[in-house]
Amino acid sequence: MKYLWVLLALVAFAGVQANRFRQEFPGPYCSARRYDPCCRDREDGCAQPISTTLCYCDEFCQRGEHGDCCPDYEEVCLGIIAEPENATACVHKNRYFTPYDDAIVDNCNTCKCNYDGSVTCTQDVCLVDEDLLRQLNHLERSVGWKATNYSEWWGRKYDDGKVLRLGTIDPNFPVKSMKRLSNKGGALPRHFDASEHWAGLIADARDQGWCGSSWAFSTATMASDRFAILSKGREMVQLAPQQMLACVRRQLGCKGGYLDSAWQYLRKVGVVNEECYPYIAAQNVCKVRSTDTLITANCELPAKVNRTEMYRMGPAFSLNNETDIMAEIKDRGTVQAIMQVYRDFFSYQSGIYRHSAAATPAEERSAYHSVRLIGWGEERVGYEVVKYWIAVNSWGKWWGENGRFRILRGSNECKIESFVLASNPYVHEHVQPIRKVGELQEFRVGTGYVQHPSRRYPPYGRG
Ligand SMILES: *[C@@H]1O[C@H](CO)[C@@H](O)[C@H](O)[C@H]1NC(C)=O
Ligand SMILES: *[C@@H]1O[C@H](CO)[C@@H](O)[C@H](O)[C@H]1NC(C)=O
Ligand SMILES: *[C@@H]1O[C@H](CO)[C@@H](O)[C@H](O)[C@H]1NC(C)=O
Ligand SMILES: *[C@@H]1O[C@H](CO)[C@@H](O)[C@H](O)[C@H]1NC(C)=O
Repeated sequence: MKYLWVLLALVAFAGVQANRFRQEFPGPYCSARRYDPCCRDREDGCAQPISTTLCYCDEFCQRGEHGDCCPDYEEVCLGIIAEPENATACVHKNRYFTPYDDAIVDNCNTCKCNYDGSVTCTQDVCLVDEDLLRQLNHLERSVGWKATNYSEWWGRKYDDGKVLRLGTIDPNFPVKSMKRLSNKGGALPRHFDASEHWAGLIADARDQGWCGSSWAFSTATMASDRFAILSKGREMVQLAPQQMLACVRRQLGCKGGYLDSAWQYLRKVGVVNEECYPYIAAQNVCKVRSTDTLITANCELPAKVNRTEMYRMGPAFSLNNETDIMAEIKDRGTVQAIMQVYRDFFSYQSGIYRHSAAATPAEERSAYHSVRLIGWGEERVGYEVVKYWIAVNSWGKWWGENGRFRILRGSNECKIESFVLASNPYVHEHVQPIRKVGELQEFRVGTGYVQHPSRRYPPYGRG
């Protein structure tokens, strides 16, 4: 009895179920009522036996999930013709399915089978675009890099990648207004790799996960590199992007952040080490106060130096052009670069990246990301010498060249040379002036660890 009511309820709702229902209870019912198959309003007599109960053919029988209409009510009384029962099978990419089956998943889209045998799929752009991959593989020689089909991207929408794998807000305004620095560099070598020059001191690629926190990662890892370099390995520390994600105000958390705010926070408040504030790829409640020390924040103190203060950086500055950036990397360590990301970048596997025509147009489909530049080089490709930057991404070591990528140098590919930032750490007991550049007085004075920080910085957020 109850079973039937449930079945009847389904009739009112789902056409597919209705078909099955009619198969199980073929009737006729309403059409078997010879004189008045369909009745108006509620008429208790307007019923037919079905299984062990009655079904109705009056207007009152359609009551949503409590309906008790006969299986052929719609057809007979409303003139709605049921779809043919053994409709159609659909085929989509060599998979057969019917309108009764669940929608099938095709990469980041789902497809359903219609009664007429056609297939309707959602139309989202996927992070792995198989057509784009094919084109890239075809273009490999002219483009100069190799694309691959990463399983981590499979099934994801491009918009997810754009929001959750990147995460640096359009830098135009704040970065452009930053202090600029030019390096009067000496001769620059053809090849330079900070991870070889300062072996063991440069952070490997980490993985930001599905959280748009590249703003925190590129900032924290570049700062970590520079602590290690400037302290000559005494302050080897992985700074905690999680603290920035949780504590820097006016950011969008896993939906992106501004680099200038990140640097201001590192300057005024400082961060603790990774072990003390582990990364969880989500925003959580900030557990570090701006007045904390490593002790009050319950962090384990470093072994090699007598540090109790959080790790702070001097003011960030920006570098203008190719040679300035190179000199900065060679003299002081890795730098942070913002880049405009095109769709094909996600599929990069190896080689010297440049965005392919296949990934354009659709300016609205590109977005900003920030990475570390750790060196440069050049490679002969045919008759051409191709110059590149060596960059470290934050998608884990499974991506690209062991977490790194190389990208065209000298032509502002993806705007990579437009927004390059650096800063210097307050290394413990480091007192030597780093450089003399008139404009950067504050930076010079501020560099070197402040041993007795009786001087309190105003809480972050007012600057
Ligand atoms: C259903 O399929 C059978 C054979 O499988 C066929 O004879 C019949 O005509 C089909 N009915 C409809 C409504 O398509
Ligand atoms: C890409 O990988 C997925 C599984 O990770 C696979 O189903 C798909 O067919 C692959 N596509 C291409 C073009 O290799
Ligand atoms: C970069 O700028 C500096 C001055 O700021 C200049 O000396 C140098 O030649 C420039 N380099 C390039 C590649 O334009
Ligand atoms: C570490 O620094 C604190 C305060 O800065 C000082 O009191 C302490 O004596 C130092 N310890 C060592 C071993 O230098």
